[in-house]
Amino acid sequence: MQMLNLEDFIRKEPKIIHGYPMVCAFSQNWERLEKFQWRPDDIVIVSYPKSGTTWISEIVDMIQNDGDIEKCSRNAITEKIPMLELSVPGVRMTGTDALEKMPSPRLIKTHLPVDLLPKNFWKNKCKIIYMARNAKDVAVSYYYFDLMNKLQPYPNSWAEYLEKYMAGKVSYGSWFAHVKSWWDKKEDYPMLYVFYEDMKKNPKKEIEKVMQFLGKNPDEKVVKKIIHHTSFEMMKNNPLLNFTNVPSKMMDHDASSQMRKGIVGDWKNHFTVAQNETFDAIYEKEMAGTTLKFCTEV
Ligand code: PPS
Repeated sequence: MQMLNLEDFIRKEPKIIHGYPMVCAFSQNWERLEKFQWRPDDIVIVSYPKSGTTWISEIVDMIQNDGDIEKCSRNAITEKIPMLELSVPGVRMTGTDALEKMPSPRLIKTHLPVDLLPKNFWKNKCKIIYMARNAKDVAVSYYYFDLMNKLQPYPNSWAEYLEKYMAGKVSYGSWFAHVKSWWDKKEDYPMLYVFYEDMKKNPKKEIEKVMQFLGKNPDEKVVKKIIHHTSFEMMKNNPLLNFTNVPSKMMDHDASSQMRKGIVGDWKNHFTVAQNETFDAIYEKEMAGTTLKFCTEV
């Protein structure tokens, strides 16, 4: 078998896996996910890309460590909360290999849509926290991320990128399908669905919700510490959280940054009036019939 390395995956189009576009590098040897051994005390953080995954991940790690910043500084976020589907041949261990070596309880990150999660996952009943963010801000954040993330195709112009995003032709597929299918899943699976915009509006309330979900008492001092440590400004200035450990052959750190703006409503600086109208029409059609509601400004 031919050995593949990073150069084979730079700026490649996504590969279709079970009907979903997947980051080409991650699509290799997909059977590794089917073979992955889940543990009942795993905590799984799920999101569509660019929805505030790193934010909720650090919050969950802080909660698990009772607000102990030193313990939470044990490693970069990419290492302490591995991404399940990650695979970067020739550069690093796959997410599944890294997770196998981790002691319990593990925190696991994934962007997988419901359908791509390995079938053996569901019987474990481990806890899931889903982080959702409004579609327009995700589009903008994803665009900037793809400017820097060389494992994704180059996004070209914003207009071109937005077309692809609206058509669900970016990695992980349609935002609409992702948020809706996970929303429906919460009917028959123990999970917490958190909104980025709610977290911006009232971090205390949302952090307390997460604590309760994880079976922790929302101690006031701990909550205060978590709010401070996971504020956008603190996270932006924390090298363990802003992906600067990812080598430049994979990520062009001069093109943008993981902690870019961290606001609700940046889409207004990017969408033209016409793009917004087209988007709203698609949105209305795609979201018809769901009880799921997002806000696009706070
Ligand atoms: S990834 O690569 O898909 O895991 O990215 P993800 O972490 O999901 O999303 C990155 C966006 O989340 C913003 N972010 C925050 N916003 C507010 N407060 C805090 N603490 C915070 N941490 C991360 C980050 O800035 C990205 O959004 P944009 O709009 O690009 O700034």
